[in-house]
Formats: sequence, C-alpha cells, structure tokens
Amino acid sequence: MGPNGPGHAPARRSGFAGARAGTSGLMRTDDTGEPAAATITPYQDGPLLVRGDFALVTPDGERIDARRGTVALCRCGRSALKPFCDGTHKMVNFRAGTTREG
Ligand code: FES
Repeated sequence: MGPNGPGHAPARRSGFAGARAGTSGLMRTDDTGEPAAATITPYQDGPLLVRGDFALVTPDGERIDARRGTVALCRCGRSALKPFCDGTHKMVNFRAGTTREG
C-alpha cells in the first residue's frame, strides 16, 4: 500500500474522536428524504470525517483506495498523506469550526 492508503490509521494518531455513538445513524438528504449514502462531518480544529458508501477519486477520476467505510480527510492542508489526515493539524495549531459560522 502507498502512503495515501488509510491503513496507516492516521485518525487514531490525530487525536480526534472518530466514530462516536449516536453519530452513525443514517442521515436523510434534505431534498428527497432518502437515506444519505455518506455523511461528511467537519471536526473542530481537525479533519473532515467521511462515513458511509462513497468513492474517493482524483480529479482525473482515478480511484483512491480508502479501504474502509470511514476516512479522515485533511482540511488544514499540512498532511504529508493527503488527502488523508495524518494528525499534523494538531502540530500546526489548525483552527476551524464545525459549521459555517465557526
Ligand atoms: S486536518 Fe489533520 S493533518 Fe490536516
């Protein structure tokens, strides 16, 4: 596996909580009421956690092997394992909220 593979478990090193009880239920899309195939959750001062049935692809459409149903994607821009979070956000003191407002 290459360095982009999620098998390196960056989520555990990054210190964010990961999947928690009460957050794994199916979300419904606003427009159809159908269950969402995947959810994306911005973590306070941390990555975007993607859960569910999704495909991670390059801009050229090449598939990036996520290997599991939940991945943490870097949003601080400093990970050495992009697009995956490697925990660097903590070392660079990345700050971002969980909503548009903060
Ligand atoms: S969000 Fe974790 S390394 Fe960027």
